[in-house]
Amino acid sequence: MGIANQVAIVTGATRGIGKAIALTLLDAGAKVVVCGRNQELLNEYNQPNVLPIKADVSKPNEVDQIIKQVLDKWGRIDILVNNAGITRDGLLMRMSDEDWQQVLDVNLSGAFYLCRSAIRPMMKQRSGKIVNISSVIGVTGNPGQINYAAAKAGLIGLTKSLAKEVASRGILVNAVAPGYIDTDMTNQLSEQQKEAIVKMIPLGRTGTVEDVAQLVYFLVSDANKYITGQTIHVDGGLVI
Ligand SMILES: NC(=O)c1ccc[n+]([C@@H]2O[C@H](COP(=O)([O-])OP(=O)(O)OC[C@H]3O[C@@H](n4cnc5c(N)ncnc54)[C@H](OP(=O)(O)O)[C@@H]3O)[C@@H](O)[C@H]2O)c1
Repeated sequence: MGIANQVAIVTGATRGIGKAIALTLLDAGAKVVVCGRNQELLNEYNQPNVLPIKADVSKPNEVDQIIKQVLDKWGRIDILVNNAGITRDGLLMRMSDEDWQQVLDVNLSGAFYLCRSAIRPMMKQRSGKIVNISSVIGVTGNPGQINYAAAKAGLIGLTKSLAKEVASRGILVNAVAPGYIDTDMTNQLSEQQKEAIVKMIPLGRTGTVEDVAQLVYFLVSDANKYITGQTIHVDGGLVI
């Protein structure tokens, strides 16, 4: 699954799934741009072939700066993984405009800004791989998460449309829909809530960040030549 010396951007790479994806791509020999807002966590990537960039993906001017810095340093973009995401849960009746907007801005608009800025160099190269990290919630919906579900479903629509737009240029665009993965995002749940979730997972356990990273690695690697526009679940069978 060769990606040696390819240039990858991973957003939301300071923690959780994004960090596992970045480390997996680095292990496979890629040069990786890691983005997030927490400078201290970005500093932990103290190794060659890493370009840490502090940026908020919900701000289009900051996203343009990411792309400019990557092109200045490495001159190309082979892989883009839109992973940055947040939750601001609450029932519709009580959801504030701010909680709705923030979740849409980071999870959906952030991916849009990155795709828009990265697509030009990929089109010039006539190659590229984009993976958008959606969620099973974008497929099934979930009470208390209408903002998150809308954003993650939106990412699936974005993925399908962009896959059709850029296929003729050799660019493959896919979405990954994780189920319940153990990270900071999910560790706010009580042990009782976690037990109830595990009971619904046919494989009988929650997912690890590596479970997601290995799928992303395959999708962005040279081994994937014919999968585009798909949403692939990595959820232990939760959504069958
Ligand atoms: N964990 C799960 O069970 C699960 C399931 C389905 C889908 N997902 C999706 O997987 C992705 C990663 O989730 P996770 O569980 O690893 O979450 P996490 O541990 O909370 O990490 C989220 C990452 O996103 C970054 N981020 C948040 N807002 C950002 C912004 N405005 N600009 C740039 N970076 C930002 C954070 O970095 P900074 O704080 O440094 O900015 C952090 O690196 C998300 O898109 C999430 O929706 C997760």
